[in-house]
Amino acid sequence: MSKTKTLGEFIMDGQSAFPFVSGQLTRLLTDISVASKIVSHQVNRAGLAGILGDAGSTNVQDESQQKLDVIADDTFMRILSAGKSVAGIGSEEQEEAFICGDEARNGKYIVLIDPLDGSSNIDVNVSIGTIFSIYRRVTPVGEPISEADFLQKGTEQIAAGYVLYGSSTMLVYTTGTGVNGFTLDPAVGEFFLSHPQMEFPEVGSTYSVNGALLDTCTEPTKKFVQRCHEDNSLNYRARYIGSLVADFHRNLIHGGIYIYPSLSNKPNGKLRLLYECSPPSFIAEQAGGIAIHDNGRILDVQPTELHQRIPYYVGSKNLVEAMQECLSS
Ligand code: AHG
Ligand code: MN
Ligand code: MN
Repeated sequence: MSKTKTLGEFIMDGQSAFPFVSGQLTRLLTDISVASKIVSHQVNRAGLAGILGDAGSTNVQDESQQKLDVIADDTFMRILSAGKSVAGIGSEEQEEAFICGDEARNGKYIVLIDPLDGSSNIDVNVSIGTIFSIYRRVTPVGEPISEADFLQKGTEQIAAGYVLYGSSTMLVYTTGTGVNGFTLDPAVGEFFLSHPQMEFPEVGSTYSVNGALLDTCTEPTKKFVQRCHEDNSLNYRARYIGSLVADFHRNLIHGGIYIYPSLSNKPNGKLRLLYECSPPSFIAEQAGGIAIHDNGRILDVQPTELHQRIPYYVGSKNLVEAMQECLSS
């Protein structure tokens, strides 16, 4: 009888298929899974542990931080910086990129992370997530890392993934050879391969956009949503959780598009290129989907700032192509 693979076995298999890859990436992916199990545990018992609510602080984006935002950020920072494979970490919750200590000078990788995505859903027991992205450093190993290590195009990602803290906890990731999803069995504290080779369905019919923003968003998004309302051919449905990870995951499984458009008061939208756009875009493309901004592919954008924002349209091919048509007409 065959046994379901654990995440650890799956990562090791990947490494043996590419023997030239050093163990550092294996170690790093393992560290991410360990940190996510700790966060998952905290999320599950948040109502009991007195860690719901506002932390009384704001992050670099001037958004108020929830206690769990801070706990998740501390957990990932602590675990990733203790491993020897990471030279630097950019976190949505921290203004400056974090340069790991001397021991990490030889670390090959740079991590960009949104430690807890969907802050407005933390206190109400609705799905939230973590999004991560891994790049190879561009400065030579042994030298101090620089801004250029953090500001790399999405096409340079070595791996990207997310953890969804939902009715079950799932870790979904890609290293550029397809997308695989693992479900945490809380009884044994292990992720098992539950969703091998994930692909967007050929045709999606769900659109996810914050409807309250439609008055202030640009014409193409208004037009796209109008089309969804008027076109009866696909049985469109609107679903918006307000946690990108959860909306993206549902759309990946059932087919759909997630939209955070350009707004009259926020021309670059809200979502952050390096933490919220590039990683799911890599996953989307690996799963047969598309990810764009107002005039091009998300993965081709050269970042100029760590916390840069960008309009974002990601999901099933048919829907993102329809959006693209609205953007270019
Ligand atoms: P974060 O909690 O990391 O700040 O991200 C929240 C993001 C995203 O997850 C979500 O889809 C979006 O913000 C919701 O924004 P609106 O409330 O403006 O719709
Ligand atoms: Mn986020
Ligand atoms: Mn966040």
